[in-house]
Amino acid sequence: MIRIEHLSKTYGQGPDAHTALSDVNLHVEAGDIFGILGSSGAGKSTLVRCMNLLERPTSGKVIVDGVDVTDFTGGDLTRLRTSVGMIFQNFSLFQQRTVLRNVTFPLELSRTPREQAEERALELLGLVGIEELAHRYPSQLSGGQQQRVAIARALANEAKIMLCDEATSALDTKTTVAILDLLKQINRELGVTLVVITHALTVAEAICNRIAVIEGGRIVEQGPRAELFANPQSAALQELISNNHQVHGGSRARA
Ligand SMILES: Nc1ncnc2c1ncn2[C@@H]1O[C@H](COP(=O)(O)OP(=O)(O)OP(=O)(O)O)[C@@H](O)[C@H]1O
Ligand SMILES: [Mg+2]
Repeated sequence: MIRIEHLSKTYGQGPDAHTALSDVNLHVEAGDIFGILGSSGAGKSTLVRCMNLLERPTSGKVIVDGVDVTDFTGGDLTRLRTSVGMIFQNFSLFQQRTVLRNVTFPLELSRTPREQAEERALELLGLVGIEELAHRYPSQLSGGQQQRVAIARALANEAKIMLCDEATSALDTKTTVAILDLLKQINRELGVTLVVITHALTVAEAICNRIAVIEGGRIVEQGPRAELFANPQSAALQELISNNHQVHGGSRARA
């Protein structure tokens, strides 16, 4: 579904150059909840932003559904972005628009007739469990409710892939569990492939079937979740596991 080949990304030039990603290779398969796990500054956001070309790779390829999209521009790029939804840590909602108008926004861009767009938005708000909040503004919602709006908006154009960059990092434990359950439901019932970026071991452990661990801009190990946790190979994953044990007193708390 998404194949990343020999991808590198360097920000800036000359003495200011900073290499955020080096020779990254990944294969996210259809139906995956694919985790990208790593500490702050590891390059997670850069990697996920390269997947929908919000950031241009310096070298390497991004292949979506067998098509090399690395050099996409114009209409091709716009269509790619509509088929790949994205949600963020800070929700990134339009503050001047109601909940309903946030969700209809991508449908307006794709010129869906107004009535049809509203119908679709209400259906999605029902799916994420906040239909009754359609006429509120984002500032009148809790963080968990705002993330539900963002999820509905990301799905509006029938996205088949959703990129989640630290989607639960601003939420408390209970709300995190609820949002992760919703993401699992979207994966299972709508067949949406998820790429979940996180620094939190518990999040990766709670929902991902496959995980890549990133450290210093390089993928240091990847594989099925159970295998990775049973036998962590990289110092980065061993450290994340040991830190998690210290914080949670040895018991693996869920999210
Ligand atoms: N626009 C930019 N210009 C220059 N350097 C950048 C830019 N964006 C990110 N970087 C650098 O690239 C590296 C990776 O950043 P990135 O945001 O991808 O990390 P991250 O894993 O998402 O971190 P966090 O968990 O804190 O969000 C960091 O050293 C960062 O300072
Ligand atoms: Mg980040």
